[in-house]
Amino acid sequence: MDKLLLQAVEYLKQGDVISAPTDTVYGLFGDATNDNAIKKIYEVKGRPSHNPLIVHVNGIDMASKIAEFNNEAECIADYFWNIVKKPLTIVLKSTSNNISKYVTAGLSTVALRCPYNNIAIDLINAFNGPLAAPSANTSNRISPTSYSMVKNDIGDKIPLILDGGDCIVGIESTIIDLTRKPYVILRPGGVSKEDIEVFLKTSIVFDNQNDNDTVIAPGMLKKHYSPILPLRINATTPCVGEAFIAFGKTDCNYDANLSTNSNLYEAARNLFITLSRLDNPSKYTGIAIMPIPNIGIGVGINDRIKRAAYKE
Ligand code: TXA
Ligand code: MG
Repeated sequence: MDKLLLQAVEYLKQGDVISAPTDTVYGLFGDATNDNAIKKIYEVKGRPSHNPLIVHVNGIDMASKIAEFNNEAECIADYFWNIVKKPLTIVLKSTSNNISKYVTAGLSTVALRCPYNNIAIDLINAFNGPLAAPSANTSNRISPTSYSMVKNDIGDKIPLILDGGDCIVGIESTIIDLTRKPYVILRPGGVSKEDIEVFLKTSIVFDNQNDNDTVIAPGMLKKHYSPILPLRINATTPCVGEAFIAFGKTDCNYDANLSTNSNLYEAARNLFITLSRLDNPSKYTGIAIMPIPNIGIGVGINDRIKRAAYKE
């Protein structure tokens, strides 16, 4: 086995936390059964402890030791985790006393996801147990989609980062609550509502209750995913001093284009890495970004940039 992977497992067994890539963004991984490891995750991120974490598993067998699966939940997990391999996190009733109470922040439900990334899966297999992981960034900052983004943000707080290059999806997983009917999307992300509905052959809804203080999916806080520079969304032309992020064909001069041929998957993949690269106050006064179509995975992209642009 890869030497760094072995080292990562050693750290995890000791209750330490490390970073590794997933298909969506880099995660900050810790043993989901170890209170101290989970406390460390919150500490490294500076994340409020009432904000629960996603538990990463290598498949349905491991997941079913933690949560209550009915037939439909099993079909959904099998389809998105094993067949189409898209980033869907499912919220189910928790059955396990083994998972640290800090992972679920005291909720009776648990969020589960099987990442589609060789390093992440090798890590879970080698560790042979569930791993909790939020995105590997300081709370409220830009989620990392490359090794160097993790290194520059929290690199001096953790013993190891596994380098898996750039993440293929680029925004976080979609979170669906399967304990409510109709099923509720708590966070739009790397798999679209439409893709889920086509599979389910029924409608699902978005949850927008997160505007108040009751935390259902706290990734839904109004301000989140923020660069240091102010972000202006739906911009048609750049203002003086601003870095300009384009989408699709345009006559404007731009500093980055999320996808010159208007491909939303490519735009998602480029989003955080582009924001991070342009987030340079010594060069720009702000960042402006062109409108992104609010369809398919574009809903997840717009969710992130809206929160990144939010002013208190
Ligand atoms: O793509 C992803 O999902 C990435 C990678 C690393 O897997 N992880 C990620 O984790 O985005 P994090 O911690 O940044 O976001 C976890 C989200 C939070 O919004 C949290 O509120 C929600 O999952 N969550 C966790 N447990 C929950 C539960 N039992 N019920 C509802 N929401 C839950
Ligand atoms: Mg995050």
